[in-house]
Amino acid sequence: MPHIHIRSFKPVALPAKKENVAFHFMASNVAHTDEHLIATGIGDKEFFLLVKDTAESVLLKSEKISRPSPTYIVKQALNQYAALTESEILASNVNDTSEHLHLVEDASLWSIHDFGKGFPEADDVRVEVGFGSGRHLIHQAKENPDVLFIGIEIHKPSLEQALKQINILGLKNLILLDYDARLFLELIPSNIVSRIYVHFPVPWDKKPHRRVISPAFITESTRVLAPQGRLELRTDSENYFAYSWETFISLTKAKLEVNKNQDIAISSKYEDRWKKMEKNIYDITLINDEISPELKLEGSFLFKNGMDEERLTKLNTTTQKVEGGFIHFERLYTTDDGRMMFRVSMGSFERPEHLYVIIGKEKSYYFPTQPVASQVNFAVHKHLDELLHG
Ligand SMILES: C[S@@+](CC[C@H](N)C(=O)[O-])C[C@H]1O[C@@H](n2cnc3c(N)ncnc32)[C@H](O)[C@@H]1O
Repeated sequence: MPHIHIRSFKPVALPAKKENVAFHFMASNVAHTDEHLIATGIGDKEFFLLVKDTAESVLLKSEKISRPSPTYIVKQALNQYAALTESEILASNVNDTSEHLHLVEDASLWSIHDFGKGFPEADDVRVEVGFGSGRHLIHQAKENPDVLFIGIEIHKPSLEQALKQINILGLKNLILLDYDARLFLELIPSNIVSRIYVHFPVPWDKKPHRRVISPAFITESTRVLAPQGRLELRTDSENYFAYSWETFISLTKAKLEVNKNQDIAISSKYEDRWKKMEKNIYDITLINDEISPELKLEGSFLFKNGMDEERLTKLNTTTQKVEGGFIHFERLYTTDDGRMMFRVSMGSFERPEHLYVIIGKEKSYYFPTQPVASQVNFAVHKHLDELLHG
């Protein structure tokens, strides 16, 4: 990950601009005075840089929750912040960034908010969850130029690698999204997807709640799949296969297919590795035969006005249960422009979101983005607003 070590931290008055990078405000952790976040913007990307002050030096890097893609953006912001604060650089892995300029404007890389503005129109939509090296996704997109493919991946280097290939091949029927696929499914209109590929998902043997396949994922998949649409799970893990089979078979009604060691059109990087090791490969396919009701998402993420310092301080580090979900107030910050800010995890237990909430006398809002417009998030937001503003 890109980072810079500087000798000492000399904050400057914000907002300020350096080249194409805007620095809006600084937030300081109330419990750990050595941690500061710098709200930063490049184009339409909003994120935090993290400043970690230690006795020997100061570390500048991107903050995890809001980290933008591609990495090039972070590098640019780090360089410009070091320049703005006239910092003495002790060490840096942020090299020249100019050669990657074209990636910023990449039309194939969508944010979750692009989908919020309207789902792309296409006669046939196929989704790949966790495409990794992108070998299967890109092969499919090349073979089926009339189909729109949406590839979802949370690993940024994989996204960047796939973006490079899309540009080289000039593919126009492929959208990449840097987001948790489990949450993304909730935004897809009903009955429009013909395939959902989940190939070699991480088995998460010790943290099953992080698995992609779950009862909620299957329910959402069934809703978004068109009649005869297929959810295709492919795994080398016997454990994951057994867990998934149990999850699929507990549905009240389902049409399922199971295969062992079946070759498919293109073998992924993982698959090649397992085949060399002579591991078994299992497929479970769910074939949807229902028309689901239309997707209806109603609610808002607006907050009431006001900032009650005492109330907010009491909430810090507490967890509040809400019907269908929860809010955990992880960290409290004060900002250099007199506001307060929480880092929260919120939403459903299965698929929590990690976000910041900036609270001002006149306006409160989520940073870097609003939660996904799901029913649980709307309900949790309502409760959050009550807790913050009464
Ligand atoms: C073991 S790799 C397999 C990659 C690829 N499908 C293949 O067959 O080579 C699993 C991938 O899923 C991604 N992943 C895990 N959980 C995810 C989620 N909730 N949403 C999107 N991608 C996810 C990981 O980042 C990783 O790249």
